[in-house]
Amino acid sequence: PSLRPEMRYRPDLEKFTFQMLQMYQSLIPPEEEERKRRQFLSHLDQLVAREWPGARLFLFGSCANAFGVCNSDIDVCLSINDDQLSKADLVLKMAAILRSDNMQNVQALTHARVPIVKFTESTTGISCDICVNNMLAVVNSKLLHDYSQIDVRLRQLAFLVKHWAKRRQVNETYRGTLSSYAYVLMCIHFLQQRKPAILPCLQDMRPTYRVTVGNIECAYYDQIETLQSFGANNKETLGELLTSFFEYWAFRHDYTRAVISVRTGGYLSKDEKEWTRRIGNERHLICIEDPLEVAHDLGRVVDRHSIRVLRDEFHRAAKILRHDLNPCTTLFEPF
Ligand code: GTP
Ligand code: MG
Repeated sequence: PSLRPEMRYRPDLEKFTFQMLQMYQSLIPPEEEERKRRQFLSHLDQLVAREWPGARLFLFGSCANAFGVCNSDIDVCLSINDDQLSKADLVLKMAAILRSDNMQNVQALTHARVPIVKFTESTTGISCDICVNNMLAVVNSKLLHDYSQIDVRLRQLAFLVKHWAKRRQVNETYRGTLSSYAYVLMCIHFLQQRKPAILPCLQDMRPTYRVTVGNIECAYYDQIETLQSFGANNKETLGELLTSFFEYWAFRHDYTRAVISVRTGGYLSKDEKEWTRRIGNERHLICIEDPLEVAHDLGRVVDRHSIRVLRDEFHRAAKILRHDLNPCTTLFEPF
């Protein structure tokens, strides 16, 4: 009776939700993968401890934020106090250590915006990226993880959106489309906006967790156990949420003026962020505020061409979810 307008198109919503839940289940990494990953990390820990007794390794990205599907790469941050060596030097040294340990395809990308070393472990085939002193990524991974523990619909929605983005080739920042991190923030923001809300705004609550990284204060409420029934008054199913998510990005988002902001739990204007003009390569054609580095727009990679590609894909998805008789297959068809 109280179906939202976009849902009237789908008489078979229950079946669709059931199929989407099955797809979500199939994307969850098996326990075996988790075990291999732990072994791999404890080996890396030993390698690092031998060279730098004071250093520590932190997991971040999809292995740490609960949004990792099967066979994700592992993102690791080396945290180290070394005044002598630059990040690029540390990356080069790490690469040498990995090569002498027989890791495969070791590549040091010292000129990237974030210098990293990439490699593969030969026995397990696990691929890993290591960066240096990038603690903000570790903290934003914890923030995403904490959100994922409040309502299971976030993890379900984000898995399907990430899966869709990879299949449709709109998860490629080097080609001007969005990162997985940006898609998860879009999902969190979307669930903060539902009426009644499915997610709270953790950065708008009394902080129980505080760290300072460089000159950035990160503070938010992280006692997630107390928020287990937060979204209980909202009964929307995965099928409804996925449909409304794409409707939002296809037809409702104000690309000209609005900035989505997980930090404030709402919208900001491009005016107040001073994101109205192109500066350098940053055009701000779709604006997603980083919850910790607030000067940072995760849509900065999007250009004149890729904004078209993205918006066409949002339209395509929304149309399929309205009219297609077999949306589960069509939606995720490889590009
Ligand atoms: P998949 O590898 O695609 O499964 O997803 P992922 O969660 O690992 O995401 P991604 O590779 O996009 O990013 C890895 C991590 O790097 C994210 O979880 C963030 O912590 C961090 N990160 C990625 N992009 C940015 C960015 O533009 N700014 C900041 N501050 N952190 C970022
Ligand atoms: Mg990753």
